[in-house]
Amino acid sequence: MKSHSLTEKNISLPLNRRHFMFGASAVLLAPSISVLADDVPVTSDGYRVLTAGKTTAHLLGKDSPATPVWAYNGTNPGPVIRVKQGEKVKIRLINKLDQPTSIHWHGIRINNAMDGVTGLTQKAVKPGETFDYEFTAPDAGTYWYHTHNRSWEQLARGLYGMLIVEETDAPKYRDLNLVLDDWRLNKDGSFDEQSMGALHDWAHAGRLGNYLTVNGQPKPVIDVTTGERLRLRIVNVANSRIMELNIADLDPWLIALDGHPVTPRKLKKGDLVLGPAQRVDLVVDAKLKPGTKSPIQFVSDRQSIDIATINYTNGELTTPAISHPPSALPVTMPHGGFDLAAAKTVDLNMIGGAMGNMDRAMLGGKMLDWRQLVKAKRVWAFNGIAGDLDKPLTQIKKGETVKIDIVNDTAFPHAMHLHGHHFTVVARNNMSVAERVWRDTELVYPNEKVSFAFLADNPGKWLFHCHMIEHQAGGMMTWLDVV
Ligand code: C2O
Ligand code: CU
Repeated sequence: MKSHSLTEKNISLPLNRRHFMFGASAVLLAPSISVLADDVPVTSDGYRVLTAGKTTAHLLGKDSPATPVWAYNGTNPGPVIRVKQGEKVKIRLINKLDQPTSIHWHGIRINNAMDGVTGLTQKAVKPGETFDYEFTAPDAGTYWYHTHNRSWEQLARGLYGMLIVEETDAPKYRDLNLVLDDWRLNKDGSFDEQSMGALHDWAHAGRLGNYLTVNGQPKPVIDVTTGERLRLRIVNVANSRIMELNIADLDPWLIALDGHPVTPRKLKKGDLVLGPAQRVDLVVDAKLKPGTKSPIQFVSDRQSIDIATINYTNGELTTPAISHPPSALPVTMPHGGFDLAAAKTVDLNMIGGAMGNMDRAMLGGKMLDWRQLVKAKRVWAFNGIAGDLDKPLTQIKKGETVKIDIVNDTAFPHAMHLHGHHFTVVARNNMSVAERVWRDTELVYPNEKVSFAFLADNPGKWLFHCHMIEHQAGGMMTWLDVV
């Protein structure tokens, strides 16, 4: 196995997780956040309006210089959109950027034309233009929305927000929503423009940041009432960073993954890991005394870093009191027709990247060697094809069960995301997995062999890609044709 060195010069950046920095006085000055901004303007004909545009955000703290960002409705993160399960959702995107854009409703089993994938399901929305999205959200849970055009740039600059689909019937806890991002900024708060789109990132672990924000703030203080039980919804919107968190003081119970209910179980240390685009829903209990504080920590291999502070206060309890264990959320995804024994099996072999063994791949219908691929910035491939979308990975008949056997023959983990469906891991490294955990994004580590299976019940062209966005842009992208 030969390994490659890249032609572009190495950029020296604090890529290691222990190099996170925070605004100097962040702890004292950060405002309390209890909920994220939740108001979205609505037109007279019933469209919620998301305007993509340029603004600034105090990512390093209120008294530090603001960072130029791209945002929906002028805030980072964009507003929380709350809809009811089964509701007809109408959203108007207004593009006030100077680049074409689109919105993808990540994890929603949506009608294909509304999936927001430029070049596959819609044309990019030009500057000054609008696009109307209309869909129903069949599954309750924690989802998110984000740009799906030049995502390696537009997502890094801040174009995302949380999308919550409310259960019709579930215990009503107070929601605490945490949107986690990492940013690569200069010390003066400006965006690190120089490394935007850098080949080095594309061929390694992606654009990893050096500042971490929770709901657009460094180390925010989050007020809770002692004695209350809350629902914590967490999404990792970072371009490429895998995040492990420690919130042991809150005694978390896992109740959902990527929106889908799981049998509630206690999370142990090391269990709370979110790949890019993944979500978890937790039931947490505020047990500490009023006046105490406890951290939410980002855990790296060397140390833990506080990324938010939970502040326990005295107050009236409005949510169900602590009792164990929390009840399970209602399962809403139909599983009828899923038939693993009859599944159509498709192989997906991942190659490429630094320290990989890719020496050629197909691009634009031609076989290119590594040097040519580096030049074209297509340094990853699925089944020997470096991100071409002219042909699908496979064509599937609606109603068929599909099993995709993924082999990660690269030196990096990948967060594989399927549009329009939810899959379950049925085998990992040749061991079959009995529990059916439905997800839309799952990590596949180096040298792993992981089998995803799903019922292809949603017709259309569905992207299947690595959600480490630089890997996607660099070739880790294909699609499934459900007819
Ligand atoms: Cu979260 Cu193809 O996207
Ligand atoms: Cu990847």
